[in-house]
Amino acid sequence: MVPLEDEFGDLVGKSRRGHGLSVEELAAQTGIDAGSLSAFEGYRHDPTREQSDTLAKRLGLDAPKLWEIAADTWAPEAVEPTIAGGLEVQSLWYGPDRVWAYVVGDAASCVLIDAGVPEGDIRAAVGQRELAGVLLTHTHGDHINALGAIVGGTDIPVHMPAEELGAVAGLGGDARPFSDGDVLQAGPGGFKVLHTPGHTAGESCLAVGDAVFVGDALFAGSIGGTNLGVDAFPIHKQTVRDKVLTLPGSTKLFSGHGPQTTVAEELAHNPFF
Ligand SMILES: [Fe+2]
Repeated sequence: MVPLEDEFGDLVGKSRRGHGLSVEELAAQTGIDAGSLSAFEGYRHDPTREQSDTLAKRLGLDAPKLWEIAADTWAPEAVEPTIAGGLEVQSLWYGPDRVWAYVVGDAASCVLIDAGVPEGDIRAAVGQRELAGVLLTHTHGDHINALGAIVGGTDIPVHMPAEELGAVAGLGGDARPFSDGDVLQAGPGGFKVLHTPGHTAGESCLAVGDAVFVGDALFAGSIGGTNLGVDAFPIHKQTVRDKVLTLPGSTKLFSGHGPQTTVAEELAHNPFF
């Protein structure tokens, strides 16, 4: 299993920026010197329990869960790569970008969810089956690097957030914008769009059966960085909480980075929730 995408320093940095605080401001508000805060965020220094608890309190993180991450005492249980309804998930990992793409389907057809792993790995996973579509959680480069190689010169549908259509212009395929609540019939599955903006404007989770492909909205034990600014930070957390973490605890979560996890694991261990 791959390690957690985010460490203590990442969680502190993402929360600090989410609250619009500089390192110096957070230092003044917590009594923890700026040098130590920078060292935490730069992975050069581990916090004491007291420091971890103090930062959790100021940043709105769950203190016991944050300490689990700091002390490296939790990792999610392995998740079976199957989805209720007879779908199978092939998880494709690209080490240099620490990113996942997923091929989801049955014996006859499949879809590709995100496209940031080498073209050859995608083609090997698809095999002789029909590639009935590509679904994009968002359009950062590390999620679409192989998109042109896969759909260029074809009319394969590329289902993607309406807000980010410009990012795939000219790459080929048949770009089809989606919005919150849409159900995409793609290959053997119906994928419901759960718009969870914050990491990007269009960032969306894609739910099928007892699984959700959460992109960079959620990582095991963390969330993707909220790039849209301080106003978006509470919206990012709230939409993930309301639309994903209210699903049954056994719901499998396939993330863009880091290990696969479940709703129950995240409710019990993710310091953001
Ligand atoms: Fe991203």
